[in-house]
Amino acid sequence: MNDKFLEKEFEKNIPAVVKTALKLCAEAADEKLLPIFLIGGIVRDIIIDKKNFDVDITVQGNAVEFSGFLQRSHPGVFSVKEIHDSFKTAKVLFAINNETVALDLASTRKESYPHPSSLPVIEEIGCDLYDDVIRRDFTINSMALSLNKDSFYKLTDYLGGYEDLQNGILRVLHPESFIDDPTRIIRGLKFSVRFGYRFDDMTGTLMRECLNSGRFDNLAGERVKLELKQAFNVNRAECLTGFIQENIYRLVDTEISFPGNIDELAYRTKNTVDNYAKFLSNPDKTWLIYLGVLLTGLSQEKIKYIAEKMYLSGNETDILTDAKTICENRDKLEASQSSFEVYEFFEKTKTESILVFLIKNKSFKDKVDLYLKELKDIKTNMDGNILIKMGLKPGPVFGEVLREVLKARINGEITSPEQEAEFVRNFLF
Ligand code: CTP
Repeated sequence: MNDKFLEKEFEKNIPAVVKTALKLCAEAADEKLLPIFLIGGIVRDIIIDKKNFDVDITVQGNAVEFSGFLQRSHPGVFSVKEIHDSFKTAKVLFAINNETVALDLASTRKESYPHPSSLPVIEEIGCDLYDDVIRRDFTINSMALSLNKDSFYKLTDYLGGYEDLQNGILRVLHPESFIDDPTRIIRGLKFSVRFGYRFDDMTGTLMRECLNSGRFDNLAGERVKLELKQAFNVNRAECLTGFIQENIYRLVDTEISFPGNIDELAYRTKNTVDNYAKFLSNPDKTWLIYLGVLLTGLSQEKIKYIAEKMYLSGNETDILTDAKTICENRDKLEASQSSFEVYEFFEKTKTESILVFLIKNKSFKDKVDLYLKELKDIKTNMDGNILIKMGLKPGPVFGEVLREVLKARINGEITSPEQEAEFVRNFLF
């Protein structure tokens, strides 16, 4: 077969400053006689004309030593941000035209999996490129583009990734791939939704076999978290339906259960995230809304157990357990009459948890809207300093008075600073 050169794709899709950084790397690698490549997702994305800001580079050799060489040869523009000595990888930075370009430099490495779902062990650093790509997930992610001068732009595609990319096919590289690393199933779901690709038949069969095997005892929870986060942050209903219908949820917990109409739940989740986006402080936490929707049917203990297994932070865990708590207490919200009672119901709860509640309890939309759109950000003008000026002695009563002012304000009984002062006078004297 003829060699493929991706000059056009590279020139079009790699930003100018990144090209400059890559050129400096390539020159250094040529000097050291090291083969150097763009590899993985970035090669896939430049072929399909998509911007990608994760620049992964592999040298057929030792990337840590190579970054030491770059440091010595380009002290003004190059710096090492992080080194992972066991993997011999480095995160490095170039300062070019007042911009910082971050690159991930890896050494080619050969890996094996001692047990199903275990973390891989490194067998060789600086191995042939073939051994480095064969350890990867899908053919479309297993291509390399040469940066060396004498083979610049040349595509190395041992496994037919280019053709699979043209045909929109997700294909694993060997039958043990999902058994080795079941998180690849979540990655597959992410790619299928993001790009509209489908699993080839054999890959689909291998996925189902792996999920039915239940052999996930060694599966590292933090890897499940990382992949779930990326998949659900795409914010597409198909991610949730695929996750449930294909039984991928078993990687999180086999006891997760669902209502009959999964499609409806999935679309409601996606639409709720879209419609309430401006109330979310960080779109990076969208995945917790999806996870919350999946977990609120379980007990608090079970939710905490799953959160621990996935190494969720305290804040992330709170989003899930608080969603469960307000779902359990919905009768209290049902009974609420005043705006302040609605406010009190939600006030200590993060917006992500409230949206999980709304997705699972759509009849409460009016009260959720009242809280998020009208009440949540109400602040009184009254504060401790004004109370002191009004002649009050600081003490526990301050909290009580300020709370009463807030209550009156939220219930619309008072609306101006003057009315707040009047309210305090009436309340106290
Ligand atoms: N990879 C893998 N198995 C995994 C995770 C990653 O084989 N469980 C490989 C793939 O070749 C992937 C590369 O490591 O292309 C880099 O991983 P990552 O940055 O997570 O993936 P991208 O393909 O760049 O995906 P995205 O576009 O979502 O960042």
